[in-house]
Amino acid sequence: MNAAPKPRVYSAVQPTGNLHLGNYLGAIKNWVDLQDGYDCLYNVADLHAITEQQDPAALRAHTRSVAACLLGAGIDPERSILFVQSHVSGHAELAWIFNCVARLGWLNRMTQFKDKAGKHRENASAGLYVYPNLMAADILLYKASHVPVGEDQRQHLELCRDIAQSFNSQYGTQTFPLVEPLILGVAARVMSLRDGSRKMSKSEPSDASRINLTDTAEQIQTKIRKARTDPDPLPGAPGGLDARPEARNLVGIYAALGNKTPAAVCAKFDGAQFSTFKEALADLTVAALAPITREMDRLLRDPGHIDTVLAAGAERARDLAAPVLAEVKHTVGFLPG
Ligand code: TRP
Repeated sequence: MNAAPKPRVYSAVQPTGNLHLGNYLGAIKNWVDLQDGYDCLYNVADLHAITEQQDPAALRAHTRSVAACLLGAGIDPERSILFVQSHVSGHAELAWIFNCVARLGWLNRMTQFKDKAGKHRENASAGLYVYPNLMAADILLYKASHVPVGEDQRQHLELCRDIAQSFNSQYGTQTFPLVEPLILGVAARVMSLRDGSRKMSKSEPSDASRINLTDTAEQIQTKIRKARTDPDPLPGAPGGLDARPEARNLVGIYAALGNKTPAAVCAKFDGAQFSTFKEALADLTVAALAPITREMDRLLRDPGHIDTVLAAGAERARDLAAPVLAEVKHTVGFLPG
């Protein structure tokens, strides 16, 4: 008896810097778990990265280091397809077709473009503007049905659905599925260690604001010790974290890393000073990240091996993409080449 095919997952991360604890708890840890129930494609989105200016040497280094990090965290390149976006030309080809499906009015509503372009809209790249079309192409090139993303990508996923629907209706086909966002459990939204109202981010200038997956145990300990808090001790219940964003963030990190609820963490540290709690949090963080960092370091000492793994992933991705791209090109009216 054939097992039913597993639903297909697609997700990606941009190689614009080193990955940090926010990426790990918010995305990658979930990606690892999804491998059990889904047929997964995980991608290092270098085409997306160049929508903003990147240093070529840094882009190359970050692409390998993000791949090493995913492998170190437990993405299994046998079970899942791990690859680099620019290695599969179908992403760019389908994105062009979607540039001709998506309407300017839809793109003008994208809040991430407005945030990223800021006051210098005239100077933003055309690529940054059509970024969501490329993201739709990523997903639909494999007819993926499920996409784990954070809240900040939800609007882009809506656009992906609009593009799929519009393509299907324009050509009178059922080519593309409607993609479902996968909102995963209580995915920890990890905030900056310096400002509890901002997301932990690789683009934040202060390195003390984040824990990089490349940080040493000493760096992790120092950053957690110096993390901003308020003068009050820990509350016995999560309600006592209201209006205390920095305290809430540290409790959230402890809970996510220790696979506990914030309530259980508060109960355990009820009335403790933050100095005590931070020591425990630093120990837990170091213990959780050390195996990943160790494996990442080992992999990065042999970049040729990483490149081989990524090349094999790209080959498998191309095989899945080829029939979809052929179908789309035929539907659109391109002659076979
Ligand atoms: N835009 C996503 C981010 O910055 C990365 C990404 C690119 C992505 N293509 C994707 C995520 C396709 C999900 C599906 O986080």
